[in-house]
Amino acid sequence: MESVSQEHRSFPPSESFSANARIGSMAAYRELYEKSIAEPEAFWADAAEGLHWFRRWERVLNADAAPFYKWYEGARTNLAYNCLDRHVENGLGGKTAIHWVGEPGDVRKITYEELLGEVCRFANVLKKLGVQKGDRVALYLPMIPELVVAVLACARIGAVHSVIFAGFSSDSIRDRVLDSEARMVITADGGYRRGKVLELKKIVDAGVSTCDCLSEVLVVKRGIEGLECPMTAGRDVWYEEMVSGVEDFCPAEEMDAEDLLFLLYTSGTTGKPKGIMHTTAGYMVFAYLTAKYVFDLQPDDVYWCTADVGWITGHTYIVYGILQNGVSQVLYEGAPNHPDEGRFWEIVEAYKVSIFYTAPTAIRAFMKWGDSWLEGKDLSSLRLLGTVGEPINPEAWMWYHEKVGGGRCPIVDTWWQTETGGHLLTPMPGATSTKPGCATLPFFGIEPAVLDDAGNDVAAGILAIKKPWPGMMRGIYGDPDRYRQTYWCKWGGQYYFPGDGARCDADGYYWILGRVDDVVNVSGHRIGTAELESVFVEHADVAESAVVGVPHEIKGQGLMAFVTVIQGRAQDEKLNRELMGMIDQSIGKFARPERIIFSSDLPKTRSGKIMRRLLRDIAEGRELGNTTTLADPGIVEQIQRQFQEGA
Ligand code: WT7
Repeated sequence: MESVSQEHRSFPPSESFSANARIGSMAAYRELYEKSIAEPEAFWADAAEGLHWFRRWERVLNADAAPFYKWYEGARTNLAYNCLDRHVENGLGGKTAIHWVGEPGDVRKITYEELLGEVCRFANVLKKLGVQKGDRVALYLPMIPELVVAVLACARIGAVHSVIFAGFSSDSIRDRVLDSEARMVITADGGYRRGKVLELKKIVDAGVSTCDCLSEVLVVKRGIEGLECPMTAGRDVWYEEMVSGVEDFCPAEEMDAEDLLFLLYTSGTTGKPKGIMHTTAGYMVFAYLTAKYVFDLQPDDVYWCTADVGWITGHTYIVYGILQNGVSQVLYEGAPNHPDEGRFWEIVEAYKVSIFYTAPTAIRAFMKWGDSWLEGKDLSSLRLLGTVGEPINPEAWMWYHEKVGGGRCPIVDTWWQTETGGHLLTPMPGATSTKPGCATLPFFGIEPAVLDDAGNDVAAGILAIKKPWPGMMRGIYGDPDRYRQTYWCKWGGQYYFPGDGARCDADGYYWILGRVDDVVNVSGHRIGTAELESVFVEHADVAESAVVGVPHEIKGQGLMAFVTVIQGRAQDEKLNRELMGMIDQSIGKFARPERIIFSSDLPKTRSGKIMRRLLRDIAEGRELGNTTTLADPGIVEQIQRQFQEGA
């Protein structure tokens, strides 16, 4: 991939786009931005005005116990109400909320009014089963409308949802259910992935048998012919049976501004994935406002985000941010290359999608599959494109711009994280001149900086965020110290530390340079190298392991695993297979490394610290860096030979 430091092209939005945009010029952006920084409380109070509140706030920001910030203190509201009831009350009930496109050709159209009805009935089922405000409910579902419905049903009654991406393994489900002490798992008998059936309920069963906190598994029927679905008596219930006879309306619980809305587990540098906490009012306003401005949402837009609801992108920019803005969206269950590689463009054409939001890894895959899949497809409905999840290389950006956007659509390269709740760095599509590979400028209320370890401003270094913002995480579930230490200690509590490297150019644009910690971004999936390492060492033949991220043409980054085997044990294909199987079992198939390289030791300093830098050099085929501090310099050559032989 080419280096972004050589990139000088710049693409202003077209006059016609700017003329109709919510933020139509840099002057308009700057004016609002300056207000948001000078008077954040006034800005965020204004932003909250258009939404529905049972009770208004007394204080917009309470920083007394920083970094444990509170937003909209004293207010009462409900996310589901703002996503649904508010639109129905405003006469938009008949508008399509979701065009669902299922994998084997199933389609469903759901209006806002119908969605409200479904959410109410689902909420009443949860209540009937005894779920109460504050209870944690884990969701393990395919991309079917019931996933969105279940999320909103939890929000409606004040239950805390914890969505688990349906690619995660049984062990991952167990860890999350236990950590959050979930009382219920909502799943489906099955789902589809590239024409293959995933037996989701069986994966849940294998994970939760030892979870004492769990009282019910609620199962939605996906309607897959011939799929058997064993039910455990006294624990498992069919949604379809429970829903008959429940009331069609369920009042929305009045939630306190700082009541927990959801948990979403994500990977860090050390230990098991952590439960990121998002609360009600601040997240709500931030999701609403970022979606509105960054996607320039207009009443007749058809929006499509290809992410899974199981990741933060789906939480904020499929469910909460998009539905609060009352637009229509496509929800797609399937893969980009099933039944063929033209599937996405067929959907854009069929539903006249106007805003399309996807990941760089998908764009690189499309490039590889070739332009012929786009030929003959009418993509003229598109007016705005977005990317998210990892740095986009300029070549992929240009391809997206020209081939998908026909050279006329602005691209919003949005940088954010599970922890930030919504976009922090992003172009304003009607105002910002974009540069290929660049996340450009801060969203309203966001004050970024690029610092060195000591906290000095530098041109290239570590990204830092100076002020709190409403959508920020409120903590790590059950571990307030870890929250403070991971995110707020690097520069003495003055800045939020996201873990990314960045460069600020002469125009004040921010370029994200990738993670500065041991977190790797594989196809936009965030994986901690320590998670894989701890899986490998559970194998009886393994002594030690180190996993590093390496550049990958399609995935952005891939994982390379270095494993030392206990003396006398075989380093063979069988062991390789077993270790890969352990990753599938403990995390999920998406976390498999590209390769596992066996050796008798790892390169270590004399004090015993593994030198990952040298492992990266080997994995990327680079000249080895300084090896003089190694305890045993011979070992790197041995590993290098192993690496080259296996290639
Ligand atoms: C990490 C967060 C944001 C939702 C999906 C991922 C990387 C994200 C970009 C971007 C460069 C990006 C960062 C970040 N990242 N967006 N536009 N340009 N890098 O959420 O799983 O919490 O991962 O993804 O490294 O820290 P996540």
